[in-house]
Amino acid sequence: MKPLKILLFSAKPYDKQFFDLYNKAYGFQIEYLETHLGPHIVNVIQDEKAVCVFVNDKVTGEVISVLARKGVKIIALRCAGYNNVDLDAASLHGIRVCRVPEYSPQAVAEHAVALILTLNRKTHKAYNRIREQNFSLTGLLGFNLSGKTVGVIGTGNIGSAFCRIMKAFGCRIIGYDLSPRLDVEQSGVEYVTMEELLASSDIISLHCPLNEETHYLINEKTLASMKKGVTLINTSRGGLINTTDMIQALKSKQVAYLGIDVYEQEDKLFFRDLTGSIIEDDVIQRLLSFPNVLVTAHQAFFTEEALSEIAQVTLKSIDQLYKGQQADNQQAILV
Ligand code: NAI
Repeated sequence: MKPLKILLFSAKPYDKQFFDLYNKAYGFQIEYLETHLGPHIVNVIQDEKAVCVFVNDKVTGEVISVLARKGVKIIALRCAGYNNVDLDAASLHGIRVCRVPEYSPQAVAEHAVALILTLNRKTHKAYNRIREQNFSLTGLLGFNLSGKTVGVIGTGNIGSAFCRIMKAFGCRIIGYDLSPRLDVEQSGVEYVTMEELLASSDIISLHCPLNEETHYLINEKTLASMKKGVTLINTSRGGLINTTDMIQALKSKQVAYLGIDVYEQEDKLFFRDLTGSIIEDDVIQRLLSFPNVLVTAHQAFFTEEALSEIAQVTLKSIDQLYKGQQADNQQAILV
């Protein structure tokens, strides 16, 4: 039997490293393409039966209908979130869709904590200062995390891991989730209403998925109902925050610190080296001009453990779907 051909979009050297390593067990024929999947490229598909995509690939209804025409049977997301795939269209065309539901919740939770600690204790500034022989402390004043109230929106895999870490700092943890979890509650997290969470948190961290209901969850109105001087962390999806409203809240000092690993227009910027380029996105440029804003480029997942898990789970799901077998991990199968 000919090996299954997979076209892997948005490929980076580290994707190739981990997929090649774990593909030894399967022998699939994987072709790596640097470009993202979208209407501009979908026609290059020839006899590949599977495509493997990441967070910023555009797997719209239009793209899916071309994939179906080309004979693609599987769309494998090598990430957890699937807001960029039209699942209804995939279902309509009989294309199976899988994802990696929880490759390393700790990786993302730990990065959210890194954003808080960096913004608060300004280690990034201290590092640069001291290299310039500036040993002054002026401007580096932080606050104790112990005793602060941390609000967690979405207490699923990542949110609950984040709660456990923040609990160890001595914080009071309050959570809001459409489906509260008993184990999370038993670990000492108090579930409250969204209004209460917004009004009483010193730090708010977003860990819910992006969907129609959560799009622009953080907007002019919700920002106004937060404590003045709140710290806001988003490692989930950029579309949860209305960035224009956020800029106003930073200007008025309603938000004292903003740490984001995701950005609503990130697909034009993130995962690329744009050194020397003119950035046309004025919104991100305005955000980057604030001294109290820390942006990382969707790197929260980026640990060795997570990349190993992503490659292993993705290849296994593709193998099982291709052979028409029952998947081991039902949460991995979306359609
Ligand atoms: P999960 O599915 O385990 O948890 C999400 C939680 O959000 C669930 O408990 C769900 O009930 C809750 N939720 C859903 N709608 C909500 C709403 N309207 N309000 C409040 N809570 C709501 O997902 P997981 O693994 O914890 O991932 C969360 C998000 O993190 C993903 O959707 C993804 O967008 C993002 N992510 C970001 C990564 C990065 O590198 N920055 C890497 C992996 C995931």
